[in-house]
Parts: sequence; C-alpha cells; structure tokens
Amino acid sequence: MSFISFTKENMIHIPEIDEQHRNLFEILNMMHTATIEGQEQSAIVKIFDDLIVYTVEHFDTEEKFMQEQKYPEYENHKKEHDELTGQAVKLQEQFKDGSATVTFELLDFLNGWLKDHTMGTDRDMGNFLREKMDGPSST
Ligand SMILES: [Fe+2]
Ligand SMILES: [Fe+2]
Repeated sequence: MSFISFTKENMIHIPEIDEQHRNLFEILNMMHTATIEGQEQSAIVKIFDDLIVYTVEHFDTEEKFMQEQKYPEYENHKKEHDELTGQAVKLQEQFKDGSATVTFELLDFLNGWLKDHTMGTDRDMGNFLREKMDGPSST
C-alpha cells in the first residue's frame, strides 16, 4: 500500500506532465518507505535530494509549456513553484545540518504540497494548455 497514490484524480491529461507527477509521487513513496524502515539519515537525505532535483526539472517543464502557450496565469503559477522549491530546500538544509529529522509530519507536509499543487494550480494550467494545444474547435 503506497503512502501516496497517483490516480485518475491526479491527472491533468498532458502526458509529459502526468508522467513527471507520477514520478514525483514515487520518489515521495520511496522516502516514506525509507522512513518506515528506519534507514539511515544519509539514505533519506539522498532521496530528498532526488526529490528536489526532480521537482526543479518538473517545474521547468511546466514553465516552458506555459510560456510557449502564453498562459495568462504564468506569473502566479511560477511564484507558487518558487515558493514550493524554497520550502523544500529549506527543509532539506535542516536535515543536512541535523537540526531536523525525517518525521511523518514532514512526509505529510510533502504529501499535501504535491497533492494540492497538482490537483489545483496544475489542473487549471492543464485545462488551458489542452485547449490551446488541441487547437480551436472546428464547430
Ligand atoms: Fe506540477
Ligand atoms: Fe505546477
């Protein structure tokens, strides 16, 4: 049983973005598993690093799509990405210097962070992008 499952409700129907979201959920599941198994802090930090690198890559992909299609909400969406990255990097730094440990509260925070963004802000973006990319309706 996964900690966070990628389901139909999480899809925004842009295949490249859905695939990246699915991978992000998987990385978070790995972090959850490592925590349950009581793996060493260094192993968990490594997964956390992967999560951040992959998140930054993913945000770049979305921002590229939004710019290409001249998404009017681009600035707000980008701001949300920057805030999320900032929060995650700050947590990561706290782990690295030992002032925080991976807890279930933290995993819950990351879980909410991913779900809220993908099911809210990203969904609105997806609706806009699909309409633009499918072209004007022929009727
Ligand atoms: Fe996203
Ligand atoms: Fe996004």
